[in-house]
Amino acid sequence: MAKQNQEKFRWDRKHLLGLKDMSRQEIEFILDTARGFEQISTRSIKKAPTLRGKVVVNLFFEDSTRTRNSFTLAARRLSADVVEFTKKSSSVSKGETLIDTARNLEAMGIDIVVIRHNAGGAAKLLSRHIDACVINAGDGFDEHPTQALLDVYTIREVKGTLEGLKIGIVGDIAHSRVARSNIWAMTKLGAEIILVGPPTLMPAQVSRLPVRVSYSLDAVLEELDVINMLRIQFERLGSNPFPSVREYSHFFGLTVDRMKRAKPDLTVMHPGPINRGLEIESEVADGKNSVILRQVANGLAIRMAVLFLVNQGATEQAKKV
Ligand code: CP
Repeated sequence: MAKQNQEKFRWDRKHLLGLKDMSRQEIEFILDTARGFEQISTRSIKKAPTLRGKVVVNLFFEDSTRTRNSFTLAARRLSADVVEFTKKSSSVSKGETLIDTARNLEAMGIDIVVIRHNAGGAAKLLSRHIDACVINAGDGFDEHPTQALLDVYTIREVKGTLEGLKIGIVGDIAHSRVARSNIWAMTKLGAEIILVGPPTLMPAQVSRLPVRVSYSLDAVLEELDVINMLRIQFERLGSNPFPSVREYSHFFGLTVDRMKRAKPDLTVMHPGPINRGLEIESEVADGKNSVILRQVANGLAIRMAVLFLVNQGATEQAKKV
């Protein structure tokens, strides 16, 4: 975003629920804000007082390594207090609902809830029932906005812009909230998206999405500037979407052989966790084109920016009341 536009723009959202309804200007504003936070992580004392006195709750109903730890670290770097909630050790096991859980936590005085849930729409539902800011850290098959933000941030860093890029999103699109948030963020920033995978792993309403579809990776590989390899989400599969793991790998795996046919500067991405040897060979995941760990590093700056902005949005909204 041009500097003068950034100065004029006033962020007033107190929730980050998804990217589908967000404008290009808002997405670019988050990316530019994250750029400003990046340098905090390079200091010897990695702290800023931005959220001192604020309480952030990580309300995770599904497992996570990257998103959860990244939000925890981001909140602590901004000097917030962090409460870690896990479904397994909570009263959810005794039948307490999501809304009751959140309201009880809110009664203890919290400011921001970061929620991951297996139900699509859980973050939106929560935002209607509590006063605290709500950040979606992944809801069902719906959205994973901070993952997509860190993805586009990383692409912008590597390629300079997303305008005109061809980006392949490969694999289990049907069960992927990352794919959905990627589609919204990347197309708004000017990229063309090609979804690649077997028909059984494409979403039912794929023709309504602003994308091209290919059922063959080899047919589109040479066109791509960026490739985002998705994990097969075995935990969400009802029945076998392909005859065998070996066949899936043969047709859709990113292998050293396929890399020889791709553009030399193809940027290789993966949101993690990786099924090594299934959707991507280890030599490619760890190779020179891979930005997988850079994505993780950038996630920290993105999540600091999002925590900062929703808190600022809450202040703006309070002024309007
Ligand atoms: N990319 C991602 O959401 O990873 P986690 O499930 O480990 O948070």
